[in-house]
Amino acid sequence: MNILAIESSCDETAVAVVRDGRTVLSDCISSQVDIHKIYGGVVPEIASRKHVEAIYPLADQALADAGVPRANLDAVAVTYAPGLIGAVLVGVNFAKAAAFALGKPLIPVHHIRGHIAANYLTHPDLEPPFLCLVVSGGHTMLVDVEDYTKMTILGGTRDDAAGECFDKIARVLGMPYPGGAALDRMSQGGDETKYALPRAKVDGNPLDLSFSGLKTAAINLIHNANQKGEAIDVPALCAAVSGAVSNALVSRTELALQQTGRKTLAVAGGVAANSRIRSDVTRLAERLGVRLCLPELRYCGDNAAMIGAQGYYEYLAGNTADMTLNAYATKSLVGETI
Ligand code: KG4
Ligand code: ZN
Repeated sequence: MNILAIESSCDETAVAVVRDGRTVLSDCISSQVDIHKIYGGVVPEIASRKHVEAIYPLADQALADAGVPRANLDAVAVTYAPGLIGAVLVGVNFAKAAAFALGKPLIPVHHIRGHIAANYLTHPDLEPPFLCLVVSGGHTMLVDVEDYTKMTILGGTRDDAAGECFDKIARVLGMPYPGGAALDRMSQGGDETKYALPRAKVDGNPLDLSFSGLKTAAINLIHNANQKGEAIDVPALCAAVSGAVSNALVSRTELALQQTGRKTLAVAGGVAANSRIRSDVTRLAERLGVRLCLPELRYCGDNAAMIGAQGYYEYLAGNTADMTLNAYATKSLVGETI
């Protein structure tokens, strides 16, 4: 089954063709990062306009790269939530028009389910059930993936996402948006014990996390040093931030593995590219004797191949939509499909 997949929820326009949920025939991405960099973050209205400009030629490119004629497409999958509403709307309306013109089913895909499904592309033998640590620019959560379309959120951040924490600290350090990857590179070789940063504990669900205190503490530390004219050891601070984020994630992940008894751990989302988190979860998996699945770096950030992967399983579960499909800024991961 050949699925044309569309993703436009934030600042990447992406179109892919994916066969049977596992084989990527083409994977095209048009990033807007250079435009939003000037503003230090994504400007929603600019993102929407750039999606409109990019999506048609990108879809043609994805079909040409895949060598799949339109007649051989079997369905159209699209991210319908969550994201910047104007941005998601562009992809949803393009997908509706394409599905209608082709006379093929339309499959709505939740963006976070897509991130989780990125693991199916890198690990062809991975099947649910497994535990997934989702760490992206907008979301941080532990998800029990009981089946391809049955998932339970076990815990997550009460405030900022891990990516948001990295990006805001990186911005105050003068790194261009989105600073997560730059902060990661800068942290290499830094002395992470030099700066003591808070480790947040939240009341209630022991699997919940909080990153706003860490973000504020790091930013205050930078501002204080600047006001006093003191130099900051940037690699040390970046290493301390990476260590604090990773420790918080890994300790909750360990607890969730114990609670669920799952024998496979997957990681998903843009922050899954973080070198410290990758090495810490690798050690955790070795220590606990569980299988670890990490997506290839190109499938960690936003892409449409992951939407095509999850779209296949949504289709098999009967989760298709008609032309009344809407776009949503937020939507629960659990149970709902449109
Ligand atoms: O999953 P994603 O593309 O966007 C959302 O769906 O939100 O993730 C983007 C996030 C950004 O915050 C970016 O800075 C972060 O992933 N990121 C990283 C790294 N590479 C990307 N954060 C830390 N270390 C990295 N190596
Ligand atoms: Zn994403």
